[in-house]
Amino acid sequence: MSARHEGLEGVTATTTRLSLVDGTAGRLILAGYAVEEIAPRAKFEEMAYLLWNGRLPGREEFKAFRTDLASRRRLPSTTSYLLREVAARWTPVMDALRMAVATLSLGQQAAPEEQACTLVAAFPTMVGAYWRLRNGQQPLEPREDLSHAEHCIHQIFGLEADGIRTERVRGLETYLNTVCDHGLNASTFAARVIVSTRSDLISAITGAVGALKGPLHGGAPGPALDMVFEIGAAERADEVIRAKLQRGERLMGFGHRVYRTRDPRADVLAAAAKQFYASEGDRQFYALAQQVEKAALRLLAEYKPGRRLDTNVEFYTALLLHGLDVPKELFTAIFAIGRVPGWTAHCLEQLRDGRLIRPHAEYIGPVGLPFPPL
Ligand code: ACO
Repeated sequence: MSARHEGLEGVTATTTRLSLVDGTAGRLILAGYAVEEIAPRAKFEEMAYLLWNGRLPGREEFKAFRTDLASRRRLPSTTSYLLREVAARWTPVMDALRMAVATLSLGQQAAPEEQACTLVAAFPTMVGAYWRLRNGQQPLEPREDLSHAEHCIHQIFGLEADGIRTERVRGLETYLNTVCDHGLNASTFAARVIVSTRSDLISAITGAVGALKGPLHGGAPGPALDMVFEIGAAERADEVIRAKLQRGERLMGFGHRVYRTRDPRADVLAAAAKQFYASEGDRQFYALAQQVEKAALRLLAEYKPGRRLDTNVEFYTALLLHGLDVPKELFTAIFAIGRVPGWTAHCLEQLRDGRLIRPHAEYIGPVGLPFPPL
């Protein structure tokens, strides 16, 4: 019997060229580029191209790729119809998104690369359309003249291109780039398991959305923001956090399975948040969040000595997205918009090089029970 690794911790299940997550050094490399080097500078379309092709596009390749993606923004009529139906029932955003993703390929059998493009292009349209419907507004016509990040802002907030401020686009784009891939995290693993059976990418990304919505994965930034609001003033930070830790609660936005030091994505987003809040947004809130982070780190070290619990990507996600006026109900869905290139790139890699994923479970139940007739 082979060794058991609860939660598959420390198990290397495959190889990848997409990202290197170095938990000891606190380093994240995205297809060769350090996250702090590429995320604040690249266009989101460049990141998607890089992950799918293993290199950045040239100028002409970039233009053609961007045009292709933009042409795939419109949703199938079934998807639009179902989004309208579930909005009337106030279905939570991630449940609606999971449903909508699953309908993108009904009756079609496109090549995996085509499915990847359609998925990336359609995510902002699905999220924006659903959010507007939930708020009693009509979805907006997709526009092909906007960049992916601009289109995302347009679909959700309804701002026209000349009303979308550069700082906002850069802030959102840096966020999306920062979270575009991250090794074999739970949702990516779920996607790879699904395509390892030679199933399609739409099924895989439907499963990934389901995995991402859990509070231990992509569902953390909403509660992280709630904690800052609950604290409300820097002098209350110790009292509120202490009470949470004494009740055995986890502080959302802290701790990570792989990073035993500060999550490098937190630094990239902290810099983006600093830059953004310098030009607009609630600066008092920004200052409070920094005080909360300091208190949380101090108290985690006190209550969980030797555990090395540090700030993860979700804490600064909450801060940055809140500054960008993204409602907290949309945080995980925006995370998904950023992660689709990574999910789909992993699926393509798995289809190209991978083997059926089928680990073993150690049976610990009884054996040899006699069947009792009713
Ligand atoms: N607050 C308080 N205690 C914590 C926290 C936290 N945020 N994270 C871990 N711990 C404690 C656990 O209670 C446990 O303590 P114990 O041994 O005394 O019982 C110990 O640290 C180890 O916890 P594990 O669950 O074994 O750590 P694991 O590696 O499985 O968990 C996880 C990683 C799930 C991210 C965890 O740190 C957590 O729940 N954090 C809060 C949720 C969060 O921020 N999630 C987003 C992660 S980033 C992402 O997915 C994009």
